[in-house]
Amino acid sequence: DLQKRENWTTRLGFILAAAGSAVGLGNIWRFPYVTGTNGGAAFLFIYLIAIILIGYPLMVTEMTLGRKTQRNPVGAFKALAPNTPWWLVGGLGVLTGFVILSYYSVVAGWSLAYIFKALGGFVPEMAFGEVFTDHITGVGVPIFWHAVFMALTIGVISAGVVKGIQRAVKTLMPILFILLVVLIIRSLTLDGASEGLRFYLSPDFSEITAQTFMDAIAQAFFTLSLGMGAIITYGSYLSEDANIGDNAAYVVGLDTLIAVMAGLAMFPALFALTDVSPDAGPGLTFITLPAVFAEMPLGSFFGFIFFVLLSIAALTSAISLLEVVVAWAVDEKDIERKKASIIVGIIIFIVGIPPVLGYSAWSDFSFLGFDVLDTYDWIANSIFLPLGGLLTAVFAGYVWKARNLADEANKVGGVINIGEWYGFLVKIVVPIAIAVVMVVTIAQTLM
Ligand code: PHE
Ligand code: NA
Repeated sequence: DLQKRENWTTRLGFILAAAGSAVGLGNIWRFPYVTGTNGGAAFLFIYLIAIILIGYPLMVTEMTLGRKTQRNPVGAFKALAPNTPWWLVGGLGVLTGFVILSYYSVVAGWSLAYIFKALGGFVPEMAFGEVFTDHITGVGVPIFWHAVFMALTIGVISAGVVKGIQRAVKTLMPILFILLVVLIIRSLTLDGASEGLRFYLSPDFSEITAQTFMDAIAQAFFTLSLGMGAIITYGSYLSEDANIGDNAAYVVGLDTLIAVMAGLAMFPALFALTDVSPDAGPGLTFITLPAVFAEMPLGSFFGFIFFVLLSIAALTSAISLLEVVVAWAVDEKDIERKKASIIVGIIIFIVGIPPVLGYSAWSDFSFLGFDVLDTYDWIANSIFLPLGGLLTAVFAGYVWKARNLADEANKVGGVINIGEWYGFLVKIVVPIAIAVVMVVTIAQTLM
């Protein structure tokens, strides 16, 4: 290796970086609308179970794989199982990084554009559905914001682990938290906030279907950045004296806290100010919420805050997606970091253009007459992440062996000891739950 491997300089630096990876569009854009379409509180309940039984053990697994091997996902599997095909699991993770970041950046670009739309003022007379459709069916404008967002992401990653990632998250994560608290206070103090609170927090278990479980598990993977090696990669910059059980709990806890808080910022305001239902789907953030801000005193100000928050959350996740691919290029291909960041970033930018064109006015005249962004999202969330998570669990449980992984994780003691329960979860519960969900989801889509 020509390039010296960096380490996080503080424990907080690592926790904020990993929490920054976790906290993203998944919490602020996706979680509320998936909760909205799945009946509210009942979904929240199942989701929390998925986080504890599947999310936490996999977080421990990926962090330990990274810290132990000090390698990118491909190198990590190669180090522990040399001369076997297991490195392909890491390869799948690198591929997933390409796919997710390419469309993630497009959505983040919408968010950047909406910062300026909010500054221009949200007024009740605007037809927000049309505003959104006009925006995403454009060509030059969404591609411009997609480029701006990728440039920001490349800028952070090319500066390195400590000077780039760690420095960015130490400034951005506290800002994100404060902005979210401001929005929650605004939402909860509106007249009629309680109806939204009831929808969000008091479960109606008759709403639970097989779909609820599938959406909850898919959301758990995406939101925790699991199943594609992002946490292996960040874990690989941990020094040997870093504790795993507690650090993993902080990251999972922070991500869950921010998702729950995002719901608190949205549902009370939504029920208090509009009569639209909370099951608007992906448009919830870009269509329904602007309409909510338009009804709110000082709404443009709060709208501005919201889209700044959403953009920050997206950026701290996007850097972890790019880092997976760049770490692979640096470790395995010996490409210099700055060069790797720029080359990989540009390729991902290009892969993200079809999702833009899929919505553009041209799509009727081209082969892209379908929702490309949704297709990328489906492939990533229904196939790549669960498959990556399943294989990682099988590898940890049966190949490296749960006992060895637990010993490695427990090397540096903390409050949480990785005990027998870990083997039971990673060998049995996690693989079975993921396999069932994958088969059902794929069957449903084909039927
Ligand atoms: N966890 C991020 C979010 O919630 C998305 C992500 C997935 C980031 C996979 C990195 C890896 O938005
Ligand atoms: Na998340």
